[in-house]
Formats: sequence, structure tokens, C-alpha cells
Amino acid sequence: MNAIELLIQDHQLVKKLLEELSSTTERAVKKRAELLERIKQEVSIHTTLEEEILYPAIKQAGGKEEAKMYYEAKEEHRTVDSLVIPDLLHTETGTVEFAGRVKVMKELLEHHIEEEESELFPTARKLLGKQELEDMGKAMEAQKKLLKGEQRAA
Ligand SMILES: [Fe+2]
Ligand SMILES: [Fe+2]
Repeated sequence: MNAIELLIQDHQLVKKLLEELSSTTERAVKKRAELLERIKQEVSIHTTLEEEILYPAIKQAGGKEEAKMYYEAKEEHRTVDSLVIPDLLHTETGTVEFAGRVKVMKELLEHHIEEEESELFPTARKLLGKQELEDMGKAMEAQKKLLKGEQRAA
């Protein structure tokens, strides 16, 4: 799998988990907490792979336009990882407030995924060679294994 294919596969999983989470009701207290935890872990690993491996390569190979995309995408990561998800973790899962916050998280992530798949990834395909994307895919798989191990140990 090359880097882009791997990241798109992650996107599909996250979108599926978001659908599952937003279809739960206030009664699904435990299920909501489990799904949120899973989303937090998947998103955290995914954004790390993007920020450590793919994004810097795009920024380096590109010009001003790519740099702008880079900072915008990183800012969206920060919003979700550092603000939206931590807030949700402090929200009672059995409340309507939780559902409202989940809706916002879902919209932010879907928007972000859509922009990556329609702008950032096509740019990466244009700027980076086939072999480079393959090598990055391998690096991502290795890094992912490591990070999953760390999450399990925590
Ligand atoms: Fe991203
Ligand atoms: Fe992504």
C-alpha cells in the first residue's frame, strides 16, 4: 500500500466510526464512550502519520500554495485533537450536549477528509514520485504499529 492508499483506508474507518457514534442514542452511554475512545486513538495515529511523514514532504516539494494547504490542514488537526476531542471526553455521554458536540466533530472531520482527498492527496501524487509514496507507505505502516503498541501499553 502506498501512503495515500493507507491514509484513505484510515479515512474510511474513521468515517464509519463517526456514523456509528452519531447514530447512538442517549441511552448508549457505554457504547458512546467506547466509540469515542476508538475514534480518538485512530485519529491521533492518523494525524501523526500525516504530520510526520506526508505533510512535510508536500511542503518541501511544493511552493506557497502547498505551504498554505499544509498550515490549514495542520490547524484542522489541532482543532480536532486538542480542542474538540478533549472537550467531548469531558462531556457526559448520556446527554444531548454530547450528541451536539459529536455532530460538530463529525462535520469537522468529514470536511477535513474531503479536502485532503480532493486537494492535498492529488497534490502529493503530482509532486512526489511513485517510489517515494511507496516508501512512505512502508514507513507509515511501521510507525502505525509502534504507535498502536504505545496506545495499548498506556
Ligand atoms: Fe488529516
Ligand atoms: Fe487524513
